[in-house]
Amino acid sequence: MSENKPEAVQDWPNSNEFWKNKRVVVTGGAGFLGTFVVKKLRERRAAEVFVPRSKDYDLRDLTVIRRLFTQVRPHIVIHLAARVGGIGANQAHPAEFFYDNLIMGVQLLHEAWRAGVSKFVAIGTVCAYPKYTPVPFREEDLWNGYPEETNAPYGLAKKMLLVQSQAYRRQYGFNSIFLLPANLYGPGDNFDLESSHVIPALIRKFIEARELAKSATESANRQGAVIPTVTVWGDGSPTREFLYVEDAAEGILLATERYNDSQPVNLGSAFEISIKELVETIGRLMGFEGRIVWDTTKPNGQPRRKLDISRAKQLFGFRASTPFEEGLRRTIQWYQSVLSSKDQKPGVAWGETRIVVCVKST
Ligand SMILES: NC(=O)c1ccc[n+]([C@@H]2O[C@H](COP(=O)([O-])OP(=O)(O)OC[C@H]3O[C@@H](n4cnc5c(N)ncnc54)[C@H](OP(=O)(O)O)[C@@H]3O)[C@@H](O)[C@H]2O)c1
Repeated sequence: MSENKPEAVQDWPNSNEFWKNKRVVVTGGAGFLGTFVVKKLRERRAAEVFVPRSKDYDLRDLTVIRRLFTQVRPHIVIHLAARVGGIGANQAHPAEFFYDNLIMGVQLLHEAWRAGVSKFVAIGTVCAYPKYTPVPFREEDLWNGYPEETNAPYGLAKKMLLVQSQAYRRQYGFNSIFLLPANLYGPGDNFDLESSHVIPALIRKFIEARELAKSATESANRQGAVIPTVTVWGDGSPTREFLYVEDAAEGILLATERYNDSQPVNLGSAFEISIKELVETIGRLMGFEGRIVWDTTKPNGQPRRKLDISRAKQLFGFRASTPFEEGLRRTIQWYQSVLSSKDQKPGVAWGETRIVVCVKST
C-alpha cells in the first residue's frame, strides 16, 4: 500500500483522461447514491455508463450477471446495488438482507474477475463495524468484534466483499477496492417513514406536525392554537456522522481513479453531531416553532458513531466539501419541491407525531 506517500506528491491521473475510454457498469445506479455517481460519471465524460435495473437484471441470478458482462463488457464495475432498509426492515427480514447482499456481491465480483474487468469497486457500510469500537472508527478495528445485532446479517454480508477483494487480489491480482461510507443524506433520499434515515424522517415529521397542528387549530374553532409537537426517541445525546450524498459519490469516483489496493477505506465527513442538535438544526432551518418532546423511555442506540477519515485523504485525496447546514437546506428544499410538484400534502393522522430516531442500517 502506498499509505506513507504524502498527498502532495501523488501522481494521480486526470479524471477526464481516466474515464475517457471506460465502459462502466453501475449496479444500483438508479438508487439514491447511484444517481449521483452516474451524474458525476457523465460530467467526467465516461465513454459508456450502463445501469442494470433490477426488473431487467436481478443480480442475485448468476445467469443474469453473466448476460450483463457479455452484453456490456465493462472495464469498471461500481457495485452499489443492495437490499437496504431501516432497523425495522432489517429485523423483519434478516435472512433476505443477508442472502441478497451476499449472493449479489460474491457472484458479481467473481464474474467480474472471470470477465476480465479491470477494476471492481465494492461499497460496504458503517454497519460492518463492531458494536463496540473506539471512536473515531478506524479501518484497523473493523474485525475487532461482532456488529450491532439488528444489522449484523446485512453488515456482515457486505463485509464479505472485503474478504473476497483481498483474496482475489492475493491469488489472481484482481484489482478491487472496498469503501465504507458513513450514513448518507441529501436530495433523492428515501422519505418513507417505515424505512427512512433519521434526517428525512425528521424533515417529514416536522412538516406533518405543522400540518396536523394547523388542521387541529382550524377544527378547534378559535379555542386557541394547537402547538405542533414532535416526539423523538431517547434523550438526544447520541452522536452521528452524516455524509452528503454528492460528496460520497465524489469519494467513490476519486477512489476508483486513484486507489488500487484492498485495504478498506472509510468515506466520512468528520462532522459529528448529537441527535439533539440535529433535531434543533432541522427545526430551525424549517422554521418550526412547535414543541420537541424527548421520550427517554425509549433507547438511545449506539452512543457515538464517527469515522476516522484520514486514510481516504491520504490514499486518494478525498475530503467532503459540503457544509452540513448547506446539505440539509438542499435536502429540505428538494423534499418540499417534490411535495409541491406532486401537489400532494404529506399524510396527516390525528394523534401525536412520533419519530423513531434510529439510524438506518446502511
Ligand atoms: N444510504 C446510505 O446511507 C448508505 C450508507 C452507507 C452505504 N450505503 C450503500 O450504498 C449503496 C447504495 O445505497 P442507496 O441508499 O443508494 O440504496 P437505494 O437507493 O435503495 O439503491 C439500491 C439500488 O439497488 C438496486 N437493487 C436492489 N436489489 C437488486 C437486485 N436484486 N438486482 C439488481 N439491482 C438491485 C435497486 O435497483 P432498482 O432501482 O433498479 O430496483 C436500487 O436502486 C448500497 O450498497 C448501500 O449499502 C448506503
